[in-house]
Amino acid sequence: MRILSGVQPSGRLHLGNYLGAMKQHIALQEEHECFYFIANYHAMTTVQDADLLRSHIRDVAIDYLAFGLDPQKALLFRQSDVPEVTELAWILSTVTGKGLLDRATSYKDRVARGISPSMGLYSYPLLMAADILIYRSDLVPVGKDQVQHIEMTQDMAGHFNNTHGRDVLKRPEPKLNDAMIVPGVDGQKMSKSYGNTINLFDPPKTTRKRIMSIKTDSTPLEAPKDPDSCSVFALYRLIATPEEVEALEERYRAGGMGYGDAKKLLAEAAERLLGPPRERRAKLEGDPDYVEDVLSTSGKKARAVAREVMADVRDASGIVISKDRDS
Ligand code: TYM
Repeated sequence: MRILSGVQPSGRLHLGNYLGAMKQHIALQEEHECFYFIANYHAMTTVQDADLLRSHIRDVAIDYLAFGLDPQKALLFRQSDVPEVTELAWILSTVTGKGLLDRATSYKDRVARGISPSMGLYSYPLLMAADILIYRSDLVPVGKDQVQHIEMTQDMAGHFNNTHGRDVLKRPEPKLNDAMIVPGVDGQKMSKSYGNTINLFDPPKTTRKRIMSIKTDSTPLEAPKDPDSCSVFALYRLIATPEEVEALEERYRAGGMGYGDAKKLLAEAAERLLGPPRERRAKLEGDPDYVEDVLSTSGKKARAVAREVMADVRDASGIVISKDRDS
């Protein structure tokens, strides 16, 4: 199976990114052919400071390596090292009805929050579809917020194949895990743009403080509590051992335990998860040449695949390029 996914370098990565996506990405490298990329063209829709974008890209690469992405097993590259994706995005735009993009909920959500949209933000799903289709990916492991984009990708692959009368592009499927929507400290979906994240690599004290600030309801200490409606428990369920989860669930239901205690347990479990990668990360920070080498070597391999697919796409759609074109 060919697995593909991307993460935007639009800020520090958080537990939602890790539990919903990166964790699956890293696990899948053991059995599948994996293509993971840093979506720097996408991040340009929100990050418009060149130095900041460069540093976020480097940070995302280091984060993946620190959590155990093995460049011998999986590719980790910059989206921009495969410039053909922008060409494919254009070609897809010619077979995609505007109505499809009008229905994108993440776009509508941003506009509803007062962001004045650029054309890049509007066309975002076209580029995302190109990212997926250009490698003839089978599965796309993501959090739930990205599923609609993958469904749009399926539609676009169908439109292209129908329009040009050939099965050139492959229909991908989304892949979710048990952390489809990881809640943030305010109980909404954890998201950089909501300011409710618990970051992967803040200093331990900051992480603890963030966890202690998670919003809970006002059930009195002695009363039984509902684990299913509590963000602290939802996060604990995703990072503690099954025995620990069961034990905390019993304490919730029995009453007599305050949310403060549950938060302390969550902070301990989070430190167990984040401590070892934090140490690896510190080492990787001191080796920028290695990180660059991983990105550029992977980028070349990914591009070789993309070029083959693009040759078929151009052929099917009548785009001819000069043999000696510098591409
Ligand atoms: P991005 O950068 O917003 O998020 C990266 C991944 O993290 C997942 N995620 C979450 N999962 C569960 N709960 C949460 N609270 C949470 N927050 C984030 C996202 O679902 C995603 O899997 N459009 C993509 C980047 C992209 C891409 C692609 C992904 C560009 N091209 C092609 C897959 C295939 C995005 O903005 O992800």
